[in-house]
Amino acid sequence: MSENSSSVAPRVVRLTRYTKTDQDEILGEGDDPFGVAAARLTWLPKKEHFGIRHGDRLVAHAGLLRLPVAIGDTRTEVVGAGGVAVAPDMQGRGLARLVVTAALEHARTMGPRYALLFCRPPLVPLYQRLGWHPLDEQVIVEQPENRLVAMPLRTMVTPLRDNVNWPSGQVRLYSLPM
Ligand SMILES: CC(C)(COP(=O)(O)OP(=O)(O)OC[C@H]1O[C@@H](n2cnc3c(N)ncnc32)[C@H](O)[C@@H]1OP(=O)(O)O)[C@@H](O)C(=O)NCCC(=O)NCCS
Repeated sequence: MSENSSSVAPRVVRLTRYTKTDQDEILGEGDDPFGVAAARLTWLPKKEHFGIRHGDRLVAHAGLLRLPVAIGDTRTEVVGAGGVAVAPDMQGRGLARLVVTAALEHARTMGPRYALLFCRPPLVPLYQRLGWHPLDEQVIVEQPENRLVAMPLRTMVTPLRDNVNWPSGQVRLYSLPM
């Protein structure tokens, strides 16, 4: 039976690379496929990539990287998650759940106690379904030319170990957002 068959259960694979062409394959070549252009932010590419193929086509992605952060007075690291994307014709079938869950399983082996992502407000309920929690604290992120800006998107976090709670205090990312 060919892998193109819809009877093949979707499977998450580790991608050795993830380029703009790969992203375009999933979301198309639109100007603002993530709907975040209005925030006018510069973003970091992710380092570890997880994808789902449907036949020969890449149809879903989630990316991760470790980021230095301060939460209140505590300097630590988080796993930043981003670039979550599912091809328009494949949305609503659980592929984001699958690829984000697999990415988080890997994130648990990376060291940090929490994962963090930024999203548009309409996606908060979706990520809550996947076990993420919105953070009400302001999050400061770096931008080119040493600028610091308050993140205008929603921040969501999820623990990567048992029995850890996100500490209180303002959050400062010592990097561009991801
Ligand atoms: C956001 C996106 C990744 C979601 O992908 P998807 O494959 O359609 O999502 P899933 O089908 O896996 O849905 C995940 C869960 O969220 C739930 N969900 C979806 N929309 C929801 C909503 N508006 N409110 C609450 N829950 C929602 C689903 O029911 C599912 O929960 P379940 O598994 O318990 O049934 C996809 O729409 C996309 O690629 N959008 C364009 C790029 C983008 O904006 N990416 C987000 C970057 S942060």
